[in-house]
Amino acid sequence: MHKKKLEILNAKKNDALIGGGQLRINSQHAKRKLTARERIDLLCDPGSFEEMGMLVTHRTSDFGMEEQIFFGDGVVTGYGNVLGRLVYIFAQDFTVFGGSLSETHAEKICRIMEMALKNGAPLIGLNDSGGARIQEGVRSLAGYADIFYRNVRASGVIPQISAIMGPCAGGAVYSPAITDFILMVEQSSYMFVTGPNVVKTVTNEEVSSESLGGAHTHAVKSGVSQFTAEHDADCIDKIKKLLSYIPQNCEERPPRLDYILADESRAGLSSIIPDNASHPYDMKQVIAETLDADSFFEVQEEYAENIIVGFGRIAGRSIGIIANQPMVLAGCLDVNASKKGARFVRFCDCFNIPLLVFEDVPGFLPGTDQEWNAVITNGAKLLYAFSEATVPRITVITRKAYGGAYDVMNSKHIGADFNFAWPSAEIAVMGAKGASEIIFKKEIEASDNPVKMLFDKETEYAEKFANPYHAAARGFIDEVIDPTITRIKLIKAFASLENKVDNLPRKKHGNIPL
Ligand code: HXC
Repeated sequence: MHKKKLEILNAKKNDALIGGGQLRINSQHAKRKLTARERIDLLCDPGSFEEMGMLVTHRTSDFGMEEQIFFGDGVVTGYGNVLGRLVYIFAQDFTVFGGSLSETHAEKICRIMEMALKNGAPLIGLNDSGGARIQEGVRSLAGYADIFYRNVRASGVIPQISAIMGPCAGGAVYSPAITDFILMVEQSSYMFVTGPNVVKTVTNEEVSSESLGGAHTHAVKSGVSQFTAEHDADCIDKIKKLLSYIPQNCEERPPRLDYILADESRAGLSSIIPDNASHPYDMKQVIAETLDADSFFEVQEEYAENIIVGFGRIAGRSIGIIANQPMVLAGCLDVNASKKGARFVRFCDCFNIPLLVFEDVPGFLPGTDQEWNAVITNGAKLLYAFSEATVPRITVITRKAYGGAYDVMNSKHIGADFNFAWPSAEIAVMGAKGASEIIFKKEIEASDNPVKMLFDKETEYAEKFANPYHAAARGFIDEVIDPTITRIKLIKAFASLENKVDNLPRKKHGNIPL
């Protein structure tokens, strides 16, 4: 080939590789942000990334745009391997028009989304963008809608992961919101529908970008994000870790690690539950002792901490864990915990990840705040999500399983495959004190010593009902087990459910109470 032709190609590629130029790259680094290409290099196995559309340029001539042409048009797209598995990636390049979304930029992203869907591989979006390309007007808005539409078509078919590694504002936040997981980088990313200036104009509130929509805000207050990263490299590490638990698509099983069975009893599990049933304990200890060593990967760690959700492994099998946390609100279910739990259950069910529930729940949180914020509708989400899930499902009741929350937390009645209880389990309509106050009200009032009478009745009720044996007698509990053999039981039970097949009645789709 003529040498000159190769030189032209190489010159164009070199131009593309430096995006908006060295000065803008320096400015990106000064904000402690990596460039799109540096992020992809960290994410993909060495040499595996193949770029598509490197030479795409925008088609705008308004506002002098024809003078400003950058190859790639502000987004790097392609496919590569992450820990040996195929993924499709788009990474917005802030050095080109602030990563803003033009018509062609959107076309590149849509192309990658379609490839991911057709080839059954996860889609990973590294977002860092000033939003709609202002010079393009409605064409840019159309581009966003094209992306949203494809996000929805792909939902439940392939895992979709959104890392927010810079600004993400306006309607742009809705693509990440539709995807399965959002990761945010501390101090350098934010998400909001309307920024601080508009907020000030409309509501007269003074608020910083960080406070309005930074990583901390969305991890703790809104629950919009599922993971927080300290910096870009940490964010990429977390994406890789997350991928290690989930399959390529809804037709596949999650990855499984080799595991050789050894002594699977765990003596530590027998000393976690306090003697006094009203004392808290850390359910994360139960989780850590039960799962394969260091395999728990918590999701939404800082939001609605009264419920714990996350991925883990048991004898190498990937599972999703949902657990009440007695350390926070005594483990009560509330609006936020129900939403958090329901969303996680549905993700696992979409992608064939079996579910393990650890239950210690005194009920739903009472109060006007909860009722007025629709604890009925939101609690029903969790109930619906469990009832609808067809993946293997196992529950271990460690202590309290009271009232409606007993039904909701993956009870036998809503389709759990195995229900185990520890001898410390209390399965009843409510706690002994509340129950005695209601059903022995007259006797207590008529008594010469109401305090003693209440105590006696409470003891009688507790002895009768605050145990797992009534439920076991009815077959609602399959087995009451010594806590130390919990892991052994779970390994066997999950293995027995390996080929579970359960189908929902034919329907277009259900109508979860959103
Ligand atoms: C075109 C943009 C741009 C945009 C930034 N740039 N945003 N170009 N369209 N939306 C360009 C800047 O002109 C600049 O170009 C470069 O990107 C970097 O921007 P800076 O402002 O220098 O960077 P920084 O100080 O870090 O501020 C980043 C920013 C700010 C906070 C994102 O640029 C900003 O507020 N941009 C506008 C955001 C916005 O209003 N977007 C539209 C939202 S509405 P040079 O040449 O100097 O490097 C929307 C609707 C979506 O998105 C609806 C979907 C349904």
